[in-house]
Amino acid sequence: MAKIWYLGHSCFQLEIDGVKIVVDPFITGNPLVKDITLTDIEADLILVTHSHGDHILDLMELAKNTNAQIISNFEITTWVENQGYSNVRPMNIGGNYSTKGIDFKVVVANHSSSFPDGTYGGNPVGFIISGKSDCLYYAGDTGLTLDMKLIKDDFDLTGAFLPIGDNFTMGYEDAAKAATFCGAKTVIGMHYDTFGYIEIDHNAAKEAFEKRKVTLLLPSINEKLDL
Ligand code: NI
Ligand code: MN
Repeated sequence: MAKIWYLGHSCFQLEIDGVKIVVDPFITGNPLVKDITLTDIEADLILVTHSHGDHILDLMELAKNTNAQIISNFEITTWVENQGYSNVRPMNIGGNYSTKGIDFKVVVANHSSSFPDGTYGGNPVGFIISGKSDCLYYAGDTGLTLDMKLIKDDFDLTGAFLPIGDNFTMGYEDAAKAATFCGAKTVIGMHYDTFGYIEIDHNAAKEAFEKRKVTLLLPSINEKLDL
């Protein structure tokens, strides 16, 4: 069973087999986050899906606080190394990596990836994260893509983290379809409500998933749950 701590927007701390993994750290710039202190967040590993500000704002500070290994695409880990932080694992789409007993696979995300100053951030990615009894798909920012059907061939997902906020990513209707593509029966929604463009109707979102017999979880910011 994975322990999930929702840190707002698309940022989570996942604890799998005792390993703490933080994904897409964006906390101090989130207008909806009130009561989370960056220095309270522990991490053994940090995953970064792409270089947009709402996914990397707190990356360097969190890394320096925790000395966690940063796993991301080559362009992002190079950017990190250029700032003097060397505990990184550069990867790209299709790649597999195992560390601390957890297996990671990098998968396609259909989006863009530039740093806040406009420099190139490589291709956006998603991750499949497999522990002893957990298998999670963290989609990152993406639209619906047929690539998601490939996941079901090789992985028996225990949960999926999917963007549902529309506008910059898929909305909840497409995300519900994505859940059937990848075979997830339980989805944690992310990338919604943080900014005006991505505010959604929570009940309508849950209904869209129910129609496909998928459970949509929408934890409150700072909520912890078991998945
Ligand atoms: Ni983005
Ligand atoms: Mn984003």
